[in-house]
Amino acid sequence: MSANYKRVLIKLSGEALQGDQGYGISPSTLETFAGEIAELQRMGVEVAIVIGGGNIFRGVAGSTAGMDRTSADYMGMLATVMNGIALQDAIERLGVATRLQTALEIKEIAEPYIRRRATRHLEKGRVVIFGAGTGNPYFTTDTAAALRAMEVQAEVILKATNVDGVYDCDPRTNPNAKRFERLTYLDVLSKNLRVMDSTAISLCMENDLPIIVFDLNQAGNIKRVIEGEDLGTLICP
Ligand code: GTP
Repeated sequence: MSANYKRVLIKLSGEALQGDQGYGISPSTLETFAGEIAELQRMGVEVAIVIGGGNIFRGVAGSTAGMDRTSADYMGMLATVMNGIALQDAIERLGVATRLQTALEIKEIAEPYIRRRATRHLEKGRVVIFGAGTGNPYFTTDTAAALRAMEVQAEVILKATNVDGVYDCDPRTNPNAKRFERLTYLDVLSKNLRVMDSTAISLCMENDLPIIVFDLNQAGNIKRVIEGEDLGTLICP
């Protein structure tokens, strides 16, 4: 099967990298994910990735525990950079070129985010990993994913999560939870379905950028989604 998309942005939560460990980066989970990304790149798909940091530090949790929100969010951004370095290393070990760009300048470690340069890297077949979110406190990495997807003109956001789509209630606590195959942005906002925060959904809505929410833990799912298989939940106009 051939790819349905030429350029995609994958939103990977930090938690997705922790595997069963409950914290940090699981080497085997990282390796599996890197392998799937390398396969997409070899299929000719241009891949950009926005990575979260919740497996290391979560800004909201820090502020709930009494920390200044801005300081906590900056720590969260640094956590995403750590994940980005790990991901870059794992993908490059498989022989695929990557570039890590960060929204906060840490020049010794990564390129600063420059949109035109990111686009050029994608055209050259390099996997581009975006770290440090949007570089601003009070914004989530989901919002960073929506923003970067629009900036590099990705055709779709692939939101890789730990559940196989969007449900009307939590499938882990309610066995009768029903999965939606398709939703509009307004459905997500009005039903308060916590797929992505409302800023991210609104950005996608204003720019007609589709989002596919799917289960990352099922091996080969990213490729299936890219080949157009109906997996998870599609959120579109
Ligand atoms: P082309 O111009 O398309 O060849 O892209 P390129 O990324 O290979 O060009 P460049 O010569 O700018 O980069 C070579 C290497 O240096 C790449 O691995 C970049 O990621 C890295 N690099 C470029 N700028 C920076 C920077 O500001 N900080 C860090 N840490 N690395 C950088």
